[in-house]
Amino acid sequence: MTEQIFEEWDELNSDFKQLEFDNKAYLQQLEQLHGIQKKCVDHIAHQRYRLSIISKTIKELGKKKINKEKLTELKSDIMKRKAQLYEVEQTLPKPNGIYLKIILGNVNVSILSKEEKFKYKDEYEKFKLILSIIGIVMAILNFSVRFRPLELSYIFLLVWYYCTLTIRESILKVNGSRIRGWWRLHHFLSTVAAGILLIWPDNESWSYFRNQFMVFNIYISLVQYLQFRYQRGVLYRLKALGERHNMDITIEGFHSWMWRGLSFLLPFLFAGYIFQFYNAYTLYSLSYDHETTWHVPILSFMFFVLFVGNTLTTISVIPSKFQEKVKLQYRIMSQRLSSQLLCRETEEEESSKQD
Ligand code: COA
Repeated sequence: MTEQIFEEWDELNSDFKQLEFDNKAYLQQLEQLHGIQKKCVDHIAHQRYRLSIISKTIKELGKKKINKEKLTELKSDIMKRKAQLYEVEQTLPKPNGIYLKIILGNVNVSILSKEEKFKYKDEYEKFKLILSIIGIVMAILNFSVRFRPLELSYIFLLVWYYCTLTIRESILKVNGSRIRGWWRLHHFLSTVAAGILLIWPDNESWSYFRNQFMVFNIYISLVQYLQFRYQRGVLYRLKALGERHNMDITIEGFHSWMWRGLSFLLPFLFAGYIFQFYNAYTLYSLSYDHETTWHVPILSFMFFVLFVGNTLTTISVIPSKFQEKVKLQYRIMSQRLSSQLLCRETEEEESSKQD
């Protein structure tokens, strides 16, 4: 029995030596990987620096109207290169922004695989949908019955929800999302507004505003469902476009679907913005009441800022969609190119293994 234990221990020791050997190889490769990653980052910075100089020179030559055709060709190549650099950048780790550094510290949140990025974004959209379903139920309950703890739990849920969105969106941004600054700021402001609502005392002005606020939230949750359907459609179609084998969808097809989706969604969005303006107006009127606390004018101002910011940003999305077509073409092209290269390498690896 004792002998058997020693034999097992020896066996385990030789296994452990193998583990040590593998771990050493792993650490070496990790070090090499960091070195190569740094090299790629430096190359990208160099490419971008030189591209900016070339672009400046093209502008100057353009004014003098020299070699117009060749310059146009060069411009198109530069755009293609920019899209390629963007694609390469997506495979490299990126440092966190200030907000993430403050709340998470220096932990690395870069997602390097395309599939994982897609999953994270999809999960973000689902998270918003689930929370808006919970939100709509709670807003209807609050509209039907007046019970302070229920009211406070709903508003607390809003604080938590918007705060979580700011974190998730900062992670998405690190991972290459082109989400506009306003939507992120919008969620920061919404967190603050929900915080102020939470500490607004249960007085007469709150009693006057609360039902309007609940109806507003029911409406916004319904709009969020429509947004979810649109954003998810965009996400899955863009993924299909980037795949080499997928011939079912074209850039033209994607654009016509997107315009249909947008023209359905936009009236609902603008109605929501008018509702935000109406909230700002109601609160502004309430701020003249002699019993009003400081929460009312501040919230009125915040609803107004949200109304202006949302309206202007959504209006600016429309013309940008026209210009996006060319950029999208280049992006899809370089996505397909990189997936082609990856497939070729895997095929070569497999055939060399078979040989
Ligand atoms: N919140 C979070 N992310 C958003 C966003 C929003 N409101 N609007 C756009 N994005 C993201 C997109 O998913 C995309 O992400 P990706 O780069 O990771 O793929 C990126 O930002 C670029 O999107 P863009 O091409 O500018 O717009 P879009 O076609 O995806 O959506 C709208 C356009 C107008 C439909 C969208 O911006 C929207 O729904 N806006 C309204 C939001 C709002 O008003 N909410 C409050 C309701 S009162």
